[in-house]
Amino acid sequence: MKFGRILCQRVARLVDHYSQFHPSPLSMKTLVDFGTKTGTEASSFEFLRQELPVRLANIMKEINLLPENLQQMPSVAMVRNWYQQSFTEILEFENIVNLEDNETLSKFAEILVKIRNRHSNVVETMAQGVMELRDAYGDTRTDSQIQYFLDRFYTNRISIRMLINQHALLYGSELANHPQHIGCIDPHCDVLEVVRDAYANARFLCEQYYLISPDVQIESHNPYENTENIKLVYVPSHLYHMLFELLKNAMRAVVERHGDQHEIPPLKIRICKGKEDLTIKLSDQGGGIPYSKIDLLFQYMYTTAPQPQPSHCREGSAPLAGYGYGLPLSRLYARYFQGDLVLSSMDGHGTDAIVYLKVLSDEANECLPVYNKTASKVYESDIPVSDWSSPAPWSQTPSRSFSTYASRTLMGGNCGVRTS
Ligand SMILES: Nc1ncnc2c1ncn2[C@@H]1O[C@H](COP(=O)(O)OP(=O)(O)OP(=O)(O)O)[C@@H](O)[C@H]1O
Ligand SMILES: [Mg+2]
Repeated sequence: MKFGRILCQRVARLVDHYSQFHPSPLSMKTLVDFGTKTGTEASSFEFLRQELPVRLANIMKEINLLPENLQQMPSVAMVRNWYQQSFTEILEFENIVNLEDNETLSKFAEILVKIRNRHSNVVETMAQGVMELRDAYGDTRTDSQIQYFLDRFYTNRISIRMLINQHALLYGSELANHPQHIGCIDPHCDVLEVVRDAYANARFLCEQYYLISPDVQIESHNPYENTENIKLVYVPSHLYHMLFELLKNAMRAVVERHGDQHEIPPLKIRICKGKEDLTIKLSDQGGGIPYSKIDLLFQYMYTTAPQPQPSHCREGSAPLAGYGYGLPLSRLYARYFQGDLVLSSMDGHGTDAIVYLKVLSDEANECLPVYNKTASKVYESDIPVSDWSSPAPWSQTPSRSFSTYASRTLMGGNCGVRTS
């Protein structure tokens, strides 16, 4: 008992210490150069044994600032334990002097994979924790803080997984999906191929649910390069995640609106590689969204779909919609490397979902939450302030009034969300 308390105090002291450091955002270019030229397993180890505790500690401090009643929810307590355990495990490598020792390096790679596996259900579990809060208190007073926290918490998680995957795929026993990939980055990511892949899988789900699905018309423009192909240095799984979510939403809207008609209007996808942005625009004629609702769509757990049935999950077929995580999580993926995801809609007609990605890999810097006084103040008040690792126009803009976020939308209840 006494030993347990001493251990907890030691971990708390170390979290305090590491949270004083800011995370070091890496650019896509740095990650690629590291994986192909500059990096070694030992230098990756040296970087990660410092950087991972910093990223973990930064977000652990924010978990501690969550409303007391949310922290007490069983699922949130479980997530917090996972973070503490992983933080402690990495710190076992803190004082190792011989960075080249093979045994240490393989033990470190093993621990990273263990940590990644431990955290694989974090998104669902944290979502469950918020649901537990709603069930227990029906409390909506803290919505703005929870939304703020979840954006930062999930971004932090995306970034930690990115770093772990890079190390595991470059130096561990896992093999990259493709010989040309650098860890999970494809230096020649074929955007059209990912679009087609996401469309095929979204269509499959749509047909399972509605028996019909809209066609797609794809147009691509590459005005500055002497080729038809559109390639980009990017993480294909992140791009796939965003497109799959947007396509599912578009298909659902179109079929719900036109499913009883003879012809369903097709989806349109336009891709353009400019000098600075690679833009992907998905247009549907699914009836659109009122302007006043656009912000609401990015709230976690906001959905107009019926709650997915657990039997669906057991049969192995994912639901088409219903968790209210598709848009907010996709936007985090886009913003993680300085891109964005924007919805623009014509109420009564249809919606355009636009994904912006950085063309230049040295401009695609990780955008990470930083724990500091500014961040901690947000948990005490509703004052919107910038507290991300790099300034971006959207990070200055607070989400619109959360008080308009009716409690019934959150109380609707969902069993969980899938992991990405
Ligand atoms: N293209 C669209 N046209 C009309 N409404 C849309 C469109 N995209 C999203 N929406 C609305 O936004 C809501 C939230 O979308 P989001 O993808 O975040 O969650 P979801 O689709 O309900 O569930 P899931 O997490 O399974 O994706 C949807 O329920 C729907 O009401
Ligand atoms: Mg969705």
